[in-house]
Amino acid sequence: MRVLVTGGAGFIGSHLVEALVARGDTVTVIDNVSTGNLENLASVKEKIQIVNGDIRDNVLIESLTEKTDLIFHLAAALGVNTILESTLESISTNIVGSEIILTSAAKNKKRIVIASTSEIYGKNPKQPLSESDDRVIGAPQKIRWSYSDAKAIEEAIATTLFLRQALPVTTARLFNTVGPRQSANYGMVLPKLVLSALKNEPLIVFGDGKQTRVFCHVNDAVRGLLALADSQKSIGDVFNIGGVGEISIKDLATKVIEATGSKSEIKLLDYQKAYPAGFEDMARRVPDISKIKSVIGWQPEHDIDSIIADVITYFKTK
Ligand SMILES: NC(=O)c1ccc[n+]([C@@H]2O[C@H](COP(=O)([O-])OP(=O)(O)OC[C@H]3O[C@@H](n4cnc5c(N)ncnc54)[C@H](O)[C@@H]3O)[C@@H](O)[C@H]2O)c1
Repeated sequence: MRVLVTGGAGFIGSHLVEALVARGDTVTVIDNVSTGNLENLASVKEKIQIVNGDIRDNVLIESLTEKTDLIFHLAAALGVNTILESTLESISTNIVGSEIILTSAAKNKKRIVIASTSEIYGKNPKQPLSESDDRVIGAPQKIRWSYSDAKAIEEAIATTLFLRQALPVTTARLFNTVGPRQSANYGMVLPKLVLSALKNEPLIVFGDGKQTRVFCHVNDAVRGLLALADSQKSIGDVFNIGGVGEISIKDLATKVIEATGSKSEIKLLDYQKAYPAGFEDMARRVPDISKIKSVIGWQPEHDIDSIIADVITYFKTK
């Protein structure tokens, strides 16, 4: 198959590209390398086509879509720091860029899987979160929610094109996805903790550290994306992809210190000191993955200890 991966030089995208090449697909990547890195594609660069371009370039996207059988749309602006620092650019990429990709896929009748996010659910206290649960979002002036809103618009465009133009689209809502190649630069918690531990620097944990998350290994997430793309039953529908095993961020930091043998200590930092006034975070974010299990039989294989071990190995050998 000819497969187009938007955001293929990014963290998840590069693992997906490797998996596609391994199964014999012909892969084209489009990426503007804003948060991605071409080094992520070092192992496959001779076997794929890499286009350095922007997903908002209508003409370019149309020419790439025409020549493909399947599209994975992963290009996005993400990470709390990116959203807070480059707000307008992020909104534009996530709404305008996604609209261009989705309408081009619909026009050319191409199968497409889009990467949405658990941020969709906002601060809904109901846990675990299932696909039909409400979005509970803070005021628009609390800028972190603009990422959630943009991804929600993307999902709404996808659903509308499915209903009105029979676009064969599947929406994957990824929960915290972690693993080798995730950058520590944009506010992602695990790479930041591991890098600090390896340097014997304090591990900064926001708030009281009792907020919990569930982490999914990128290889598991990629398996999920591929299985969704291969399934006819997933078309027109939305699926959570997430890990198992809820852990507080303070416990995560403790595990990282133990696994690295670091001399670091945990330092709690008020959210107000790290982010703009009024910044909101969620106490828990737990995926309900029963739907994807029952429809396509996917479930994660990695536990948190093996995930931490893989991230440590990555940063030690980088
Ligand atoms: N990592 C997670 O925990 C997580 C969780 C939920 C959803 N997601 C979604 O998964 C997808 C991939 O995320 P990731 O973690 O690999 O992040 P990433 O930042 O590593 O990847 C995004 C890629 O998109 C590229 N990009 C950004 N703007 C672009 C533009 N205008 N044109 C072309 N390329 C552009 C970046 O250079 C980067 O390579 C995103 O859609 C994201 O919203 C990720």
